[in-house]
Amino acid sequence: MSLSKPFGGVYADHGMRGNGRQDIPPAEMMAPVRRAIADGGRASPDLVVSRGVAQCTCSRAIGEVPVPTSPVLVVNGVERQASRGDRNLLSYLRFDLRLTGTKYGCGEGLCGACTVLVDGQPLRSCMTTVGAVAGGEVTTIEGIATHDALAAAAAGEGVATLDDLHPVQRAFVEEQAMQCGYCIPGFIMSTVGLLKREPEPSPAQVREALVEHVCRCGAYQRIERAVLRAAEEMSVRSERNTGSEGDAS
Ligand code: FES
Ligand code: FES
Repeated sequence: MSLSKPFGGVYADHGMRGNGRQDIPPAEMMAPVRRAIADGGRASPDLVVSRGVAQCTCSRAIGEVPVPTSPVLVVNGVERQASRGDRNLLSYLRFDLRLTGTKYGCGEGLCGACTVLVDGQPLRSCMTTVGAVAGGEVTTIEGIATHDALAAAAAGEGVATLDDLHPVQRAFVEEQAMQCGYCIPGFIMSTVGLLKREPEPSPAQVREALVEHVCRCGAYQRIERAVLRAAEEMSVRSERNTGSEGDAS
């Protein structure tokens, strides 16, 4: 694996996967694929799930299915229509939508820098196409904090504070869980997915969920602390919300 070759190789061939194949499942096949991602492949013997990417075991059959031409998907709550179904999802997000928070690392599904959520589940965007997630809801690092203050700050109107961030983002900042920060959007997206599935993970569960993310700066211990801190903060917050709902009734 070469993590030091930026923007070269397969990345220039948008739509190509790291192994050179261009198997693009059509939209109607993606519902079971997304379910397979969600349950780790257990319920779908015909699908293999590797590093968050689901592929049919009969890849030849997938390759023969027509590619959706103008797939519609929702990105950070906004409906989008892509011009090509075979467009690599990471390229589409970064170059077409200018959502550059999602990073290109290895381009081969190995580092996790490109992780986004598709229907709430972490997925490596370098390993899939826009057509493969047609009809799905894609969330990038830009879409997890919904405060108006962030949008205003991005438009140069006002200043956002730590409180405007998603609790996971805030915990990463508070634990100083980064050096260069390049890998962090991917770690954060997988953490958001993990805390949806498992709101109170143990340290072992955190490590298992993030084991296939690479941080070249080696900030792993601080990242683990940040994830546990975010889990605690989110659970306190949800208890508080439940309590105030109870008070109101
Ligand atoms: S860029 Fe490394 S897994 Fe996608
Ligand atoms: S690669 Fe630099 S903080 Fe992870």
